[in-house]
Amino acid sequence: MREKGYFISFEGIDGSGKSTQIKKLARFLESLDFDVIITREPGGSVGGEEIRNLLLQGQVDRWSAETEILLFTAARRDHLERIILPALDEGKIVLCDRFTDSTRMYQGMRGPNLRNLVDMLNEKVINHDPDLTIIIDIDPKISLKRAKSRKTAEERFEDFGVELQMKMRKGFIKLAKEFTNRIEVVNGHQSVDKLAQHICSLVKAKLS
Ligand code: ADP
Ligand code: TYD
Repeated sequence: MREKGYFISFEGIDGSGKSTQIKKLARFLESLDFDVIITREPGGSVGGEEIRNLLLQGQVDRWSAETEILLFTAARRDHLERIILPALDEGKIVLCDRFTDSTRMYQGMRGPNLRNLVDMLNEKVINHDPDLTIIIDIDPKISLKRAKSRKTAEERFEDFGVELQMKMRKGFIKLAKEFTNRIEVVNGHQSVDKLAQHICSLVKAKLS
């Protein structure tokens, strides 16, 4: 099945500004008459959101990394089948807050061979890369302060602390070098509007 739409994922550490930028980009694309949907992972579909609650709430050690990989992948499969692929088939632009790259980082970096497990499962049951991935790069000391100020129940991963986020930041930069065909890294230290301008022009160029 080849879709007609365009699939963009946003990645980066917690509080890097993904959802803020996704909303701005959606407004911009709509002003150009594109049909846009905003979605997120884990979640996006009814079943995916149920799995999200299992994953993001509770104690830091609630699940092992292996169990998390299975749960995130299950949520992703449901999301892909029910939301992402149908929207792409209808010619929509899908803006997704996190996708497989997050699992490669957050779970894949937690132990030896875990990245292989993520990639293997991804190939077997997801097998679908975004057309474009935007990684918002930012110092975790700044982004964690932003994330913590939100005060939600979903803090399980934020509770892993600044050290893990530091590792993730480096991991995301390395990932961009691995997938140069689809990943663009942008500077998250800029003001909301400046960064939005940069992302909008980058996406506009890709779409034309
Ligand atoms: P994410 O979706 O990556 O977790 P958010 O977009 O929710 O990040 O942003 C986290 C917090 O930081 C929010 O309170 C948001 O208003 C704020 N924020 C986002 N981008 C910026 C920015 N460029 N400068 C300052 N604050 C920002
Ligand atoms: P998100 O709601 O994007 O958090 P934030 O707004 O703080 O960036 O994602 C929720 C958390 O889930 C985030 O801490 C990263 C984590 N996560 C994984 O560990 N693996 C995954 O595959 C995904 C999609 C998210």
